[in-house]
Amino acid sequence: MCGIIGYTGKEDAVPIIVEGLKKLEYRGYDSSGIAVYGKNGFDVVKQKGRLSVLEDRLKDRMRENKPLCGNLGIGHTRWATHGEPSDINSHPHVGSKNKIAVVHNGIIENYKQLKERLENYGVPFASQTDSEVIAQLAEHYYCGDIIDAVIKVSNAVEGSYALGVMCIDERDTLIAVKKDNPLIIGICDHGNFIASDVPAVLKHTNRVYYLNDKEIAVLREGSVQFFNMDREPLQKNIETIKWSMDSAEKGGYPHFMLKEIMEQPRVLRDTIQSVIMEGENKNVLDNISVSCFNKIIITACGSAYNAGVTAKYVFEKLCRISVEVELASEFRYRDAIIDNKTLVILVSQSGETADTIAAMREAKSKGASTLSIVNVIGSTIAKEADYCLFTAAGPEIAVATTKAFSAQLVLLYILAIRFALRLKILSHNEERELLAQIATLPDKVSALLDKTGSIQMYASTCVGYKSIFFIGRNIDYAIALEGSLKLKEISYIHSEAYAGGELKHGTISLVEENTLVVALSNCSYLYGKIMSNAEQVISRGAKVLLIGSCSDAASAHDSEKLYHISLPHVHEMFSPSLSVIVLQLFSYYVAANKGLDIDKPRNLAKSVTVE
Ligand code: G6P
Repeated sequence: MCGIIGYTGKEDAVPIIVEGLKKLEYRGYDSSGIAVYGKNGFDVVKQKGRLSVLEDRLKDRMRENKPLCGNLGIGHTRWATHGEPSDINSHPHVGSKNKIAVVHNGIIENYKQLKERLENYGVPFASQTDSEVIAQLAEHYYCGDIIDAVIKVSNAVEGSYALGVMCIDERDTLIAVKKDNPLIIGICDHGNFIASDVPAVLKHTNRVYYLNDKEIAVLREGSVQFFNMDREPLQKNIETIKWSMDSAEKGGYPHFMLKEIMEQPRVLRDTIQSVIMEGENKNVLDNISVSCFNKIIITACGSAYNAGVTAKYVFEKLCRISVEVELASEFRYRDAIIDNKTLVILVSQSGETADTIAAMREAKSKGASTLSIVNVIGSTIAKEADYCLFTAAGPEIAVATTKAFSAQLVLLYILAIRFALRLKILSHNEERELLAQIATLPDKVSALLDKTGSIQMYASTCVGYKSIFFIGRNIDYAIALEGSLKLKEISYIHSEAYAGGELKHGTISLVEENTLVVALSNCSYLYGKIMSNAEQVISRGAKVLLIGSCSDAASAHDSEKLYHISLPHVHEMFSPSLSVIVLQLFSYYVAANKGLDIDKPRNLAKSVTVE
């Protein structure tokens, strides 16, 4: 986690860095800081708290007639791992000789040993962070050549890092290096950038280089050079990003999350198009062979895992292949039974989640084929998996995923349909029929988004709940998991999702007068079952919010106790794409009514690049 940015060029670096940090705040918001060169050494402003606190501090500096400014600088937004959120633990970290300043995203695993060694040489440490060791070590190695010092640091540290480095003796040079954490280099007419993610530079440029592990970038106002660890020059290809700048702005919405929810019809359309139009997604789908696999494992974290759980129902129904879904953090250490007949599907919005990367590497080392479903082009998972399908969600800024999740689902459905066709389980006609159903999803989602009033109204009555339960059966259970996760992430209301049939094996003991149970009902053949679960909880005093296309009995219930939000009809397998819209809106409006910081929920970060 953490976000880093650096700039060198003709303009004042400070406002550019602040703007960039705003786009990176989704990566962490415990503290932030900026360093530029001052008259006597580094000029650093860093503060615990949100970026707005840093901005206030920068305004104070203006008022005091000591503005922070310079043509080269580095900035950081922190998600604390080692050392509490505090001013002193904030980045940038400057070595005790005041020669080198560093911003770091990642974790230095051997920092204790390195710190001990440096302390034995008499180096005084100021913070409790692992990151400070980088600045101190760089100064220890520095003998007038900053590139050499950075190479030595890279060779000495274990763990993951994306670094921006400044050296007081080379005031025109910004150095970047990375291992296992993302870093891009952006170039434009007025200067050059380093950043953890594209949205941070999008205002200035869409031309970027993706840095690979253990590559060094040396940026000066009008030039960027790349080297390997042997200091040999590297030629790299520049990529043009298609995301527009608007996609990283709120566009009039109060929160990115609402904007991103509302973007879903377009995202679904673009993602569906991407497998029809000539291009990378179509190529992958046309070329991936399925007959050589006897097992599929889907592994991911968070919502991406829930997309996998949902997809299992679709794959098994359509392809009759056994599918396991496993949390990447468990899979990576489980010594799973996989071989070259296993297809491991990695699902990840960022393509940088540490556990999912590790799961992918584990699968590859055991000879499995890997297919990733990723939103960020150039990300580690996109680059390292054998095959990659891209979700066309555009940049997703809100920490709680919405549009990327929907895009993942739709790609997984299409993948399952394609596999079933290849396996000759589906005929071409059946394939066409299912794809035609999928093609109706964007309009159906649009129709739901046009009528948010009832969800908003119902959500406004739910702010007082301490706990909310979600139930469903079959594929409705899978999407209940996502509904529950969304709610707890942003509203801080405790929530659990249960398979309807499991209710009476424990959860029902938690149901009391006015408990809220959200029940999903899209599986027609299980409608009676989920309704009997609803009745069981209503008879114990609970209220039920019923979401689904199956509903005839809704009117038969006391309307005080049961509220129904009806969904358009679509093939049951694809109904999660509609349910999830209501679930996202429900969570959003509950959190909005509580006045919470929806885009940046406490303790969470969007891109979880540490274990
Ligand atoms: C974080 C985000 C979630 C996301 C999960 C996995 O927890 O808040 O929204 O689902 O990470 O991230 P990935 O980038 O791998 O999809």
